[in-house]
Amino acid sequence: MEKTPHIEVNREGLIAETILLPGDPLRAKFIAETFLENPVRFNAVRNAFGYTGIYKSKKVSVMGTGMGIPSIGIYSYELIHTYGVKNLIRIGSCGSFQADINLYDIIIGMSASTNSNFASQYGLPGTFAPTASWKLLKKAVDIASEKGYPVNIGNILSSDIFYDDNPDVWKKWAKMGVLGVEMEAAALYMNAARAGVNALCILTVSDSLVTHEVTTSEERQTAFTKMMEIALEIA
Ligand code: HPA
Repeated sequence: MEKTPHIEVNREGLIAETILLPGDPLRAKFIAETFLENPVRFNAVRNAFGYTGIYKSKKVSVMGTGMGIPSIGIYSYELIHTYGVKNLIRIGSCGSFQADINLYDIIIGMSASTNSNFASQYGLPGTFAPTASWKLLKKAVDIASEKGYPVNIGNILSSDIFYDDNPDVWKKWAKMGVLGVEMEAAALYMNAARAGVNALCILTVSDSLVTHEVTTSEERQTAFTKMMEIALEIA
């Protein structure tokens, strides 16, 4: 079977049509071992661990994408174009830009603004608005409301820069109503849009640019479980 440079799968059909994409490959391993029945590892190239297993009788995959737009750009492209993945759900952490969005709150990226040049490859005569799949977004919102989990839904920023030379530049995005910052969703949404497949990004707030608070890793786990439940139920 055809393989890609960054994902080495040795059996046809080993990657499910729906995949959860955390940034951290060890988080992918943890998710597979904790939430999936009979997880089978399909990839270990560059330690970007990927697994497929069963959740509530449905086949679901989970794979680490690494950090940043180039990295998720590569993995999501190969998953979509070579391995036939149709639903790509990023689960990650973000920094909050808004005073009323606190640590551990959930943000769902309806759209993803970016300072990245990723969209230039399409040669569009204007700017592109990277947007979540309505189908996945609607499901996520329905599941969250059934479970009684509050979620913030709106525009997020996918930034190429974690350590910005201008520490106040985020305030310009905040003034435009952007909810928070992460580093991958815009590329995921663009790859999915270009290929006609579905993508969504669900985030847990791990730090606040407003208050400078940060989470501890155990505290993150609980909030993370809620986000996971939403993502797995979509699948
Ligand atoms: N910036 C960018 N990405 C992030 C952040 C942040 O503050 N927190 C979690 N992911």
